[in-house]
Amino acid sequence: MHPTRRLERPEIAARLRASGCVFADEEARLLDEAADDAQTLVDLVERRAAGEPLEPLLGWVDFAGLRLRVGPGVFVPRQRTSVLAMEAGRLASSKSAPVVVDLCCGVGAIAAVIGATGAPHRLVAADLDPAAVELAAQNLAAYDGEAYVGDLYDALPRALEGRVDVLAVNAPYVPSAEIGGMPREAREYEPRHALDGGADGLELHRRVAGAARDWLAPGGHLLIESSTAQAECTEQLVRAIGLSTRIVSDDELGATVVIGVAPA
Ligand SMILES: C[S@@+](CC[C@H](N)C(=O)[O-])C[C@H]1O[C@@H](n2cnc3c(N)ncnc32)[C@H](O)[C@@H]1O
Repeated sequence: MHPTRRLERPEIAARLRASGCVFADEEARLLDEAADDAQTLVDLVERRAAGEPLEPLLGWVDFAGLRLRVGPGVFVPRQRTSVLAMEAGRLASSKSAPVVVDLCCGVGAIAAVIGATGAPHRLVAADLDPAAVELAAQNLAAYDGEAYVGDLYDALPRALEGRVDVLAVNAPYVPSAEIGGMPREAREYEPRHALDGGADGLELHRRVAGAARDWLAPGGHLLIESSTAQAECTEQLVRAIGLSTRIVSDDELGATVVIGVAPA
């Protein structure tokens, strides 16, 4: 049997372009760099050409200046979430020895950005999905972060009740009926539980806001990523638990973040 010939970058780019890939030259370079041997490169190119998302094939994603591990079957952090992460990082940095929680953490992108500020006294991330939590643990190791599996607050150490200074949340918020209209890479390759926010998209936001006061420290901040269409409803949920609120948005990144602060 002949050894597999290593594909040249122009060949890879042509194959990707033919399959509808927009950034074919750039992706050809990244896949070439990611593959240790010729056969692995062929496999990666064919999987990408068949529609698999790029980042899990590479094993990493660049997010807010950090390179984070990702893998197949978990949610790939979106660039818009860097707006929430940076706001949370700024708030954490403004507090003394803050306790920080990233709820619905996925691979821990938000927690990693906050951890990289050096501010957290304790950095905790939690998610329902064990595969995501395993990656979060790896991504947070450099910041002494802790990662737990479980349903929302059930995953958190009870000792944190009433002590969380920054509670950062990017929970699923796509209305169930809109999942079918999402890009194929999300619909087919990311788990439904990472996307589906229930009938109106706000099911998780209701549950997050409903119990947030039990966990926030006096003067603690709650940040929830939302959409332009849902932001007012998310804000009402946060205001209804007695927090003063504001909305931060970034049109370029398509980001909307509801920020609430608990009474001191
Ligand atoms: C939209 S993804 C965001 C992940 C991460 N925060 C980020 O920005 O990259 C939503 C995450 O919420 C998690 N999730 C969904 N329902 C949950 C629940 N009831 N408790 C904890 N995590 C949940 C999913 O597993 C998924 O990782």
